Amino acid sequence: MLDLLMNSKKGLHKLTDLTLIEIKEILAEAESFSRGATWNSEKQRFVANLFFESSTRTKLSFEVAEKKLGLDVLNFSAETSSVQKGESLYDTAKTLESIGADVLVIRHPKDAYFEELKGIQIPIINAGDGCGHHPTQSLLDLLTIQQEYGSLNHLNIVICGDLRHSRVARSNAEILTKFGANVYVSGPQAWMNGYAEQYQYVTMDEAVEIADVMMMLRIQHERHHEESFYKENDYHLQYGLTVSREKRMKANSIILHPAPVNRGVEIATELVECERSRIFKQMKNGVAVRMAVLKKALSYV
Ligand code: CP
Repeated sequence: MLDLLMNSKKGLHKLTDLTLIEIKEILAEAESFSRGATWNSEKQRFVANLFFESSTRTKLSFEVAEKKLGLDVLNFSAETSSVQKGESLYDTAKTLESIGADVLVIRHPKDAYFEELKGIQIPIINAGDGCGHHPTQSLLDLLTIQQEYGSLNHLNIVICGDLRHSRVARSNAEILTKFGANVYVSGPQAWMNGYAEQYQYVTMDEAVEIADVMMMLRIQHERHHEESFYKENDYHLQYGLTVSREKRMKANSIILHPAPVNRGVEIATELVECERSRIFKQMKNGVAVRMAVLKKALSYV
């Protein structure tokens, strides 16, 4: 598993670099961790989490995963490091590699930042690149859906909202299709960015009737170069998962959201913790998935 990537010390940049078999193996390992399996690194191993963009879930669940695996986590802060003196991403990564880091976990606002890091020999796990990819988020979404339905084959999954600026949408749309799911998209046409040509577009009223999984997305204001043209309440009524729409969802269908959640905008406040919501289960699964990815990365260093 991951031989292709890990032998070349590239780490995990985007899920489409992996075969379906490799992804299924990671999910199986993650499922086992989610049920309480443990693994401890026998050798001392150092991991650095380099976050150049804000994060609650990804950063801290990587840290929990690392500590559960017995890894030594190197403290890094873009705000207090020599990044402030103009150190480049490459030089920061090269420094960490030189002083003994075994794996780097990186989140960066630049799309495909990892292309600049080809000279780094240790694995790099992408924790989100700009509007590009967020592979560990996709893996935890896959795990959460799989736990619910057993298989993704023929499930109707509607990705709703700001697809244009979402790295989660990009990673998920590609991989869900490969797993046999029927992917639909919904949201403002201005934010479809080619998705509506590749995937069937549905309105939110149509979406709730057909979906097995409603995959809600936050409006990514930080990546908008233009002013948002929606008042929050108008957006909620036209494109959001409202309380009345939720009542029309199929009996066993579920709600996912990568979070952070803008309550009352893309999803009604009352629905964030409703019976159908798997939002906090996604977060819990994030630790198990990151343990599986880290364990595999470490097996090649
Ligand atoms: N889902 C997600 O990536 O959350 P954070 O931005 O808080 O890490």
